[in-house]
Amino acid sequence: MLKNFWYAVEFAHEVTRRPRRVTCLGQDFVLYRKRDGAVVCLSDLCVHRGAALSEGKLVGDEIACPYHGWQYRPDGGCTKIPANPAGRGIPKKARVDSYPVREEYGMIWAFLGDLPEDERPPIPHFPEHEDPAFRAVYVQMVIEANYERTFENVVDAAHTPFVHGTRFGNPDKPEIPDYEITQDDWSAVADISLSPPPAKGLWKRLYKGVPEEVIATNGWFLPNIVKLHVRLPFGDMILYDHNIPLDRNRTLVKIVGYRNFFTGGWADRDARKRIASILLQDKPVVESQRPELLPYDLPDELHLRSDALQVAYRRRRQQLMADGWWLGEDDHMTVNGKRGSATVIPSPARRENPELARAWQHRARGAAPIPAPVPASKTTVPDDAAETADKTADRGVTEGVSE
Ligand code: FES
Ligand SMILES: [Fe+2]
Repeated sequence: MLKNFWYAVEFAHEVTRRPRRVTCLGQDFVLYRKRDGAVVCLSDLCVHRGAALSEGKLVGDEIACPYHGWQYRPDGGCTKIPANPAGRGIPKKARVDSYPVREEYGMIWAFLGDLPEDERPPIPHFPEHEDPAFRAVYVQMVIEANYERTFENVVDAAHTPFVHGTRFGNPDKPEIPDYEITQDDWSAVADISLSPPPAKGLWKRLYKGVPEEVIATNGWFLPNIVKLHVRLPFGDMILYDHNIPLDRNRTLVKIVGYRNFFTGGWADRDARKRIASILLQDKPVVESQRPELLPYDLPDELHLRSDALQVAYRRRRQQLMADGWWLGEDDHMTVNGKRGSATVIPSPARRENPELARAWQHRARGAAPIPAPVPASKTTVPDDAAETADKTADRGVTEGVSE
């Protein structure tokens, strides 16, 4: 999983004045709107005893923990500790990480990392969102597979005739002509010629017969977005597919789907159904892939010319890994079940102010010396927590270990 990117973590219409928990990169966050409508994103782990702030209440623009009522500002600073007698100060360490937020394209984007503003990779541009000719629908589904498997699936043109059969591909014409990729540091896009199947259902009203080919624009935007633009004989359908890593083995796919035909609200249900049925066709195949995690080395799987978009992704990912942007590894990604430690992704405040790097409970890996692992017999820390602390050294995560 890649840190230091903007992640679209929720549909904007789902975020209100009611705190909402979202998960990404194996971490929980709480989202809420301030009174002026701006969205706040905080680590969902209260530094006092680790309760979920998302279960708490808003007090003006601040959020109060449900357990002992500690109150946090949008920037993560604690403003109130109800158990303290009047006049007792708030410890400097009483803070949670607060992440930069933007609201674009009907999504709430959180910057999950600690890079300063001018070094952050961009949010991709989705021009259809501002174009009044297009109408959007929102669809989501949990897939029990690693996010890189679900992500690569959507840039994989060769699977469509087999997995999507007559809905989206043409089993009689499975060849993928060679295509050119346009690539920069953060994206790779290609125009791919596909043979479409005959129209079905509502779409039959718009065209009969089968065109020889349609040009689909397909490509990826780091860290986890796939664009699929299908030019149908009667209009355009553009899907932006966000593959959100809930943990190592589960992905929340959120899709914003634009169309410039049948733009009345009456056709939304049909549009959502079509997108969901495509996802349901992919689900069992992607969940069956082994190894479950995308191999690190290119030769570990066999690649064809038609897999070029995936190969471009794997190459770029290798560079970013070498640059230290990879978060967690096979042995340490957060998984469902009981944990001996909790991790928090360092926010920009830690980097901007060196004093803050160690100012609150979660120790920033990479920003501070990693303590040597203590033999289990000499410590009160559970065995698995000590082991995890050792394995996570230098991976850019912070550990929920009290100082
Ligand atoms: S756990 Fe949040 S205030 Fe105690
Ligand atoms: Fe698919």
